Amino acid sequence: MILEPEKFRRFEHAGWQQIPTGYHEAFGSLTRQAIDPLLDAVRLKKGMSFLDIASGPGYVGAAAAKRGATVLGIDFSVAMVDYARQLHGNLDFREGDAEKLPVANGLFDAAAMNFGILHLGQPELALVEAHRVLRAGGRFAFSVWCKPEETIAFGIVLRAVELHGEPRVELPEGPPFFRYSDPEECTRGLMVAGFESPKVTKIVQTWRLPAGDGLFNAMNDSTVRTAGLLRAQKPTVLKKIREVIHLALAPYIKGDAVELPMPAWIASGIKP
Ligand SMILES: C[S@@+](CC[C@H](N)C(=O)[O-])C[C@H]1O[C@@H](n2cnc3c(N)ncnc32)[C@H](O)[C@@H]1O
Repeated sequence: MILEPEKFRRFEHAGWQQIPTGYHEAFGSLTRQAIDPLLDAVRLKKGMSFLDIASGPGYVGAAAAKRGATVLGIDFSVAMVDYARQLHGNLDFREGDAEKLPVANGLFDAAAMNFGILHLGQPELALVEAHRVLRAGGRFAFSVWCKPEETIAFGIVLRAVELHGEPRVELPEGPPFFRYSDPEECTRGLMVAGFESPKVTKIVQTWRLPAGDGLFNAMNDSTVRTAGLLRAQKPTVLKKIREVIHLALAPYIKGDAVELPMPAWIASGIKP
């Protein structure tokens, strides 16, 4: 596998530019569940300066501001930045790359990246950048999905593609989607970037979606890499994948919704 960081970055960027509203509607209720654990991991308190990296619709920054922090949110998609400004007009969101943050050294008391690391072509650079922009003693935390055996939504969709479709479609090659879904890899990444006292803990999360096509639609319309995988399938195959996803959701139906376990890892470290 030869990684193509620039091509991958352009692919991700083009994708995120298209989906702020869809992402907010499909994923917002899920990714917001990791906010309190992230802010607790960086010990966020009133008066601190806080950087929300890969801020998307700005959920983490908004929650940090509620805790009394001074907040900057950075995302490489200007459409996401605009969307975050619409949702939280009084906060500062700017365009910028997590792998080359447009901020000076040592500015922040704390920083976090909520489900951003798996979208980066060169995540190691983002970890080094998070370290650079913190003051000595500052804390950084990131969240990442657990493996698809545990994150049922990914498991169901990927298994359906594996069994009925073509799982190796031509997309720009990025790092494995589940690379950091391993606490040892999180720890290694944090330490290589210069963080000390790495800590990785699992959190329970549940994704509630409309029954029927809710999961298929969320993955097909409001993601980048998974949507790329689905859209590359032949129409007849995609129809079959969609039916198989429906069937696999049966054990998770609650009324007119499905409730899917979607645990995540919260990894954090301290800049010495
Ligand atoms: C899964 S969303 C997470 C959004 C948000 N943090 C949340 O709490 O839901 C990933 C975000 O990462 C952003 N992103 C991806 N690659 C990036 C990069 N290289 N630099 C900055 N942002 C990036 C995308 O634009 C998108 O908003």
